[in-house]
Amino acid sequence: MRIEELLIPNSVKEVIIKSGITQLYPPQEEAVKAGALEGKNLILASPTASGKTLIAELCALRHVLEEDGKVLYLTPLRALASEKYREFRKYARIKKKSGRRLRIGISTGDYDRSDPWLERYDIIITTNEKGDSLLRHRARWIDEISLVVADEVHLLNDADRGPTLEVVLARLMQVNPDVQLLALSATVRNAEEAAEWLKASSITTDWRPVVLREGVLLHDEAQFRDGDTFKIEKSTKNSVTNLAMHMIRSGGQALIFAGTRRNSVSLAKKAASSVGSILSKPLKRSLMRVAEGILTSGERTRVSESLAELVKHGTAFHHAGLGGAHRRIIEDAFRDGKIKVLTATPTLAFGVNLPARMVVIHDYRRYEPGYGYYPITVLEYKQMAGRAGRPRYDKIGEALLVAKTEDERDYLMDSYVLAKPERIWSKLAVERILRGHVLATVAADFAHTEQGIYDFFNKTFYAYQYDPDAIKGVIAKILKFLYKEEMIEFSGDDVYATKFGRRISELYIDPVSGVIMRDALLNRAPLLTDLSFLHMITRMPDMYPKLRPYSREIDELASLVEEHRDEFMMEIPDEWTDRIAYEEFLGEAKLALVLDSWIKEVKEDGIIEKFRVQPGDLYRLVATGRWLLHASHEIAALFKHKDLLSNLAELMEQIEKGVKIELLPLVRLNGIGRVRARILYDAGLKTIRGLKTAPLEKINGLPLIGPKLAKKIKEQVGGFVKQKEWKKLKSKKSSEQQALTKY
Ligand SMILES: Nc1ncnc2c1ncn2[C@@H]1O[C@H](COP(=O)(O)OP(=O)(O)OP(=O)(O)O)[C@@H](O)[C@H]1O
Ligand SMILES: [Mg+2]
Repeated sequence: MRIEELLIPNSVKEVIIKSGITQLYPPQEEAVKAGALEGKNLILASPTASGKTLIAELCALRHVLEEDGKVLYLTPLRALASEKYREFRKYARIKKKSGRRLRIGISTGDYDRSDPWLERYDIIITTNEKGDSLLRHRARWIDEISLVVADEVHLLNDADRGPTLEVVLARLMQVNPDVQLLALSATVRNAEEAAEWLKASSITTDWRPVVLREGVLLHDEAQFRDGDTFKIEKSTKNSVTNLAMHMIRSGGQALIFAGTRRNSVSLAKKAASSVGSILSKPLKRSLMRVAEGILTSGERTRVSESLAELVKHGTAFHHAGLGGAHRRIIEDAFRDGKIKVLTATPTLAFGVNLPARMVVIHDYRRYEPGYGYYPITVLEYKQMAGRAGRPRYDKIGEALLVAKTEDERDYLMDSYVLAKPERIWSKLAVERILRGHVLATVAADFAHTEQGIYDFFNKTFYAYQYDPDAIKGVIAKILKFLYKEEMIEFSGDDVYATKFGRRISELYIDPVSGVIMRDALLNRAPLLTDLSFLHMITRMPDMYPKLRPYSREIDELASLVEEHRDEFMMEIPDEWTDRIAYEEFLGEAKLALVLDSWIKEVKEDGIIEKFRVQPGDLYRLVATGRWLLHASHEIAALFKHKDLLSNLAELMEQIEKGVKIELLPLVRLNGIGRVRARILYDAGLKTIRGLKTAPLEKINGLPLIGPKLAKKIKEQVGGFVKQKEWKKLKSKKSSEQQALTKY
């Protein structure tokens, strides 16, 4: 079917055709025939890169342009939300019937808001979690939504992220039974079951834009499912490197999936020198610039240094331990074909559009702390393998699992290459996960009787798949807990949320975290310090990632805890009678110390080395820490702990910026982060007043501060920049540039 023939506005056709798409792919055609453009509910389950997004785009534009509707696009990750946002932006010039341009919005931030400004947008892209929090705030515009797109809906199967998606979909169906649902999924065994739950029809296909050859590599021989084999040249001892070299020599790139971050780094290092040795000079020059880009964005750390070094050799790693800026640089350089070998953890496998001619799955087993090694699912394998083959560039994509023995080769062939993806199962009925959703059901008035709560959860995928009574027991237990902790109240048949309960639900935190903050703020500690509050938040179940103390750290942590005994707002478990609780406490104390070092302005590298955290983890800790301090501030306000409010507000800002309290006024300026603020402060420019009266030349003369930034600072503090002074500075060679290469 040609785009021309579709019953959609011409303005939309033009944009699509201009982007290079003239024909629908077969699964897309099926979706159209199944009524996707006539308001029918639909699950489209098809392989990676089979073009599911385009169907969502067509549906969305039809709703907005022809029905004056509103669209909510749900994705599981922030990175995916921004990718979808960029893709939708190409329609932003189209005008609606009213004559006004289409408005496309993205909202993934702060969970404590209803974002009323989103009301003005036609297409709103968000994460499942943000969608959930918007529902908890009962954002008014939610009632106007006429189409919900749920991307990567097979994640219903994911223990961490599945339940939220499930609850969000159930709530949206409850709020607006007429809404059109379009669910996009990888191929799974039981798409029909999910479809029945959503009152949708399902389309399942195996069609792919590029033919995929799947197989297993053993030593120097690759064997494919059709029985075909080929030998690779044994130029190094490492068969994965040899395979990658084979790919590069024939003009392709390789994407290698490793089981752990550490493996992803070591595989990249192993490949680097061989890969580097066959790159052309112009490519190497261009890679040098990419490497420089890595070193100059964000604080320089060992991780960014080793990444930059690898990039010079056309190799890189990609995992959740990298900061966002670095990840984007790597993704772009890979897409541009500059990086030839990219090693990654499986987080890269879904959604982000980053194909390569060859995919290598190095580890089919994954390590989970506390569980040990377990084999990945076929669904996960398919997601990774599916990244092979770049549409428009490659005729064939190849995906190979790596075996060490012949037995293993047979096992991998049977269990993955020839196997069908599993069924997906709801993971909702877990108390830890369900607590917040039960509270929110009451607090946001999705139900106001106990029966109403059960009725709501009867409409979830869980209840559809299992016996609804199975979840009843867990809910009853949770209701008891919420009542005991005074988050809900009963009156006859009715159940209400207390102010405390409602606030906890809106703040989007686990009710158990709410109890921890309420009690800690009430009981306090003999000596209240930053550490007291930091430990309070690291104790909360919402704090993530949790760090376990390494055995060699235990003694040191134990004496630190002893030293600061008076500062903790809760009792320290007894080392001898409850060892497990005690070590958990040490872990919390360790996290608190990480955050404490961060606000004492210890260099990122120092923190990474001392506590063995990775930059990406540090950013996540900081983001979660900021959020939990905000929540603590709100709960302190609710319980009228006026004496703590400014303390908590300042600490939250310190965490956000990574500075001592004295730098707060300076980091509030645009363009000034923790490093530059410290430079200004140490040069005697300690206050806004000081900056206002300081000569431009003095500010500009400091390391890392060039004329442009100096002027920007002056303008922000209300200082006056003389034309003559500015001209003089501008003509000088930018010290900003010099400084960047120096630091
Ligand atoms: N009909 C078409 N003709 C040519 N290219 C297309 C067509 N439809 C989609 N594409 C392109 O295919 C690529 C992959 O599409 P998309 O991201 O929608 O895949 P997907 O099915 O969502 O896969 P994933 O499971 O990885 O999310 C995009 O670059 C898109 O522009
Ligand atoms: Mg997709």
